Amino acid sequence: MILIDGKNISSKVKDEVKNEAINLANLGIKPGLAVILVGDDKASLTYVNSKEKACKMCEIYSVKKTLPASTTEDELLNLIDELNKDDKIHGILVQLPLPKHIDENKIIEKIDPKKDVDGFHPINVGKLSIALDGFVSCTPAGVIRLLKEYEIDISGKNAVVIGRSNIVGKPMANLLLKENATVTITHSKTKNLDFYTKNADIIVVAIGIPNFLKADMVKDGAIVIDVGINRLDDGRLVGDADFENLKEKASFITPVPGGVGPMTIAMLLNNTIISTKNFLKEKK
Ligand code: GUN
Repeated sequence: MILIDGKNISSKVKDEVKNEAINLANLGIKPGLAVILVGDDKASLTYVNSKEKACKMCEIYSVKKTLPASTTEDELLNLIDELNKDDKIHGILVQLPLPKHIDENKIIEKIDPKKDVDGFHPINVGKLSIALDGFVSCTPAGVIRLLKEYEIDISGKNAVVIGRSNIVGKPMANLLLKENATVTITHSKTKNLDFYTKNADIIVVAIGIPNFLKADMVKDGAIVIDVGINRLDDGRLVGDADFENLKEKASFITPVPGGVGPMTIAMLLNNTIISTKNFLKEKK
């Protein structure tokens, strides 16, 4: 079994990002990312702070906008409008979930698709589905990067994605399809899940249930990518895959923590670099 070291690969990506950011700054354009947090969800605050810290480390200008939970939809739309027009900002991220009184789709659609470094705007989602260049959701983009770094051949493989969220499952399936895998999307309503997983060469599990994927559900030599981050009552962080038993059976597996998790922010910074380069190209 080979352990996929997301911490190491994410450091490599961040080093590349830092070099690119310095080069862009020397050309007179420092990459800039705005991160918006509405409300006081603790996990979201932790994510937003990590994103800000990562920007600093990688020479990316970062703006953190922390708004109270009482913020209206219009106030948030206006803030996005300002950031859309701000030439110092090349990426805009609105941390999800948003408070219930705000329509998430409306907010996402307000972000200029050219600054949508999360890849959530319908324009970018659509581009991915027809394999055009655009921003791709960071976690699934990170998974593909990990597979490539470990020289795992995706073409022609049976890939099973467990979970169909807009952030992970659906873009993951589209990315695997783009890499010529034969892709099956499964989810909480799938019957006989193990019929699919037992035939899978690559399994990406993103269902949000601790230790959901068991060793008897996979074939020998399967590649297991665990996107889950679940906090147990005793404080331990575990994935969606039963790592202890799967590690005996898998050919490659990502640990939690230290697998897919660290890749998300690295890919976000990478998307911010891409956005800045696009901006520079358009200006010329
Ligand atoms: N909430 C959970 N994951 C994400 C993400 O990747 N981006 C944003 N904006 N919010 C999230």
